[in-house]
Amino acid sequence: MASKNQILIAVIGAGGVGKCFLSQLQALAARKPSPKLSLCYISTSRKALYNDDYSPINIDNALDALAASSKAPPSLTKVVEYLATAPAKVVLVDNTSSQDVAELYPLALKQGLSIVTPNKKAFSGSYQLWQDIFSAAATSGAKVYHESSVGAGLPVISTLKDLVDTGDSVTKIEGVFSGTMSFLFNSFAPTEGKGGQWSDEVKKAKTLGYTEPDPRDDLNGLDVARKLTILARLAGLPVESPTSFPVQSLIPKELESCTSGDDFLEKLPAFDQQMEDTKAEAEKAGKVVRFVGSIDVTANKVKVGLEMFDRAHPIAALKGSDNIISFYTKRYGNNPLIIQGAGAGGDVTAMGVTSDLIKVLSQIA
Ligand SMILES: NC(=O)c1ccc[n+]([C@@H]2O[C@H](COP(=O)([O-])OP(=O)(O)OC[C@H]3O[C@@H](n4cnc5c(N)ncnc54)[C@H](OP(=O)(O)O)[C@@H]3O)[C@@H](O)[C@H]2O)c1
Repeated sequence: MASKNQILIAVIGAGGVGKCFLSQLQALAARKPSPKLSLCYISTSRKALYNDDYSPINIDNALDALAASSKAPPSLTKVVEYLATAPAKVVLVDNTSSQDVAELYPLALKQGLSIVTPNKKAFSGSYQLWQDIFSAAATSGAKVYHESSVGAGLPVISTLKDLVDTGDSVTKIEGVFSGTMSFLFNSFAPTEGKGGQWSDEVKKAKTLGYTEPDPRDDLNGLDVARKLTILARLAGLPVESPTSFPVQSLIPKELESCTSGDDFLEKLPAFDQQMEDTKAEAEKAGKVVRFVGSIDVTANKVKVGLEMFDRAHPIAALKGSDNIISFYTKRYGNNPLIIQGAGAGGDVTAMGVTSDLIKVLSQIA
């Protein structure tokens, strides 16, 4: 049975980020004697591990025990029911990219469960879901944090919230929000040297594990559009959905119907000239092309797509697969507040989740 000075942690999702989160949770629980952190639930889409009496799961070997578990996960509403009747406060950690789990947040929050997550789906879906989440949290007092939903562990969301909450006026947010797009353009159109063929760079990015299994899921721009939707809403724009503003897709129309990612990659070289022309046009102007997202808060305009930048511009000079996010505000004037660094990776993403958990603990424990 749980004690009063205990917080129960429920983890949904044990993939790249979930595994790193568990190892950070283990270290945090060891470092932090109070409140006592106990893992009470962990699941993937196929397996679950929990005890009816909420007795703790050993974090040290939770992954092995989960793999050996013969329990299938209960329905998501049953999971909320189980957690809502726990004998201590609960933080639900959603380490999936599941829309179904995201849609459960209003119910979970209403029942007093706090949520931390790197999952973009809840915050970049319909504006109604966004409103339902934050009004449920306001009503019940449960907390919801999602730092890693933009820029992985980079302090993007907390910085934007601080700017807004302290009364600064954010006029524009601009940046490279996708590690995949960053890698592709830094190697296709480097600030020095010639760069590779577009289709070769896409293949290379896939081989190195920078793209989704089907690279079209990166090239369609939707991932960046989701991140911009989140930031625009936090900056005060009631953006309806990630498809309610212009998003440039880098998938040639003719290849949208390819049957698989491999089929797409095979046919892509025939369309290299389009990207070569864009690169040449930028070079003629002494610039390089980059895939960026921007939010003009003042003009209420959000867009995602290709833009040209002077070679000395911080967005042009980005390296590897780093993200960069610039906040233009009244206080910062002409020199934006810039956040830059790794925008993907299990450890850094889990760091954002763990730091959110620490924030929640400081408020509910
Ligand atoms: N990886 C990064 O660098 C990064 C960066 C920023 C943000 N994120 C975000 O972090 C989240 C996790 O990413 P990841 O890379 O760890 O993904 P992943 O490796 O694909 O892992 C996802 C995990 O969620 C589980 N899952 C999916 N649907 C579920 C459901 N309905 N119920 C229970 N479990 C479910 C999966 O279980 P099965 O294996 O059984 O399907 C798997 O364990 C995503 O929202 C992603 O966008 C990741």
